[in-house]
Amino acid sequence: MDIENIAVVGSGQMGTGIAQVCLMSGFNVTAMDVQASALERAVGQIKSSLAKNVEKGKIGDADRDNMLAKLRTSSDFEAAANADFVIEAVNENIDLKMQVFGQLDKIVKPEATFASNTSALSITTMATATARRDRFAGMHFFHPVPVMKLVEIIRGQETSEETITVIRDLALRLGKDPVVARDYPGFLSTRLGIPYMNEAFYAVYEGRGSVEDIDKCAKLGLNHPMGPLELADFIGLDTILSILENLYENFGESKYFPCPLLRNMVKAGQLGRKNGRGFYNYS
Ligand SMILES: NC(=O)c1ccc[n+]([C@@H]2O[C@H](COP(=O)([O-])OP(=O)(O)OC[C@H]3O[C@@H](n4cnc5c(N)ncnc54)[C@H](O)[C@@H]3O)[C@@H](O)[C@H]2O)c1
Repeated sequence: MDIENIAVVGSGQMGTGIAQVCLMSGFNVTAMDVQASALERAVGQIKSSLAKNVEKGKIGDADRDNMLAKLRTSSDFEAAANADFVIEAVNENIDLKMQVFGQLDKIVKPEATFASNTSALSITTMATATARRDRFAGMHFFHPVPVMKLVEIIRGQETSEETITVIRDLALRLGKDPVVARDYPGFLSTRLGIPYMNEAFYAVYEGRGSVEDIDKCAKLGLNHPMGPLELADFIGLDTILSILENLYENFGESKYFPCPLLRNMVKAGQLGRKNGRGFYNYS
């Protein structure tokens, strides 16, 4: 089935970026969220990002207007009924994701493909909330979505080969470079990146060095563009805690045990860049 209409469910940090790249590749996009304020923020961010693309000469005024004309927003899942492809980007919580997919499955046309942008949760489990387990997979984008080239495709236990092809083709149309991972906690990228960030949290917790110096080690010594603490603030400390809890629960290995400092920061509402305070202060 040709994809024309894409529904993005959850219009926070990731959903906004996913909606933008889909618009920039010519798709009709319905951005959805339970919070009207999230939808307003998403539209504002997409408009300002497209305006920057016009300023840089990457797209013309008419391109921007065409893209914006293809964007709809809604808080009602009925708006996704005609979608050919649904990408879910709600909070990293398996119960929430299953509830969302269960509802969407009853509304969205049966031939449509469903994908989750989860960082680490089980695609196989999520698919059981639907009657389309073969047309269900992970499509894991990276933040900021318009910049980051990687898309990790996750093959659930019952994902069909055709679904992998549909998602690979879509990722290529979005200008991304896909890899395919099997459905085990953390897949490939999260399993590499999150324990590394947790190690940096422990280094701060144990007073081994300053936040700035830990990040400097990664940037100047490991040639990473960002340090682990800057990156954690960028992703969102609440999201990282959810991922670590999931990895620890599934593997039962101490290397995934979330650093107590991370827990305290999340309890205190220090979530990183998205609310102005994390390992760094953004106010
Ligand atoms: N932040 C990152 O760098 C990153 C990278 C890759 C993947 N992810 C994954 O993407 C997903 C979203 O992360 P995020 O950082 O965008 O989170 P976020 O908190 O910025 O956004 C989540 C959005 O989902 C909305 N939402 C909650 N319940 C909903 C429902 N029932 N229906 C519709 N919308 C609902 C919330 O209102 C919110 O706007 C998570 O699964 C996360 O693990 C995040």
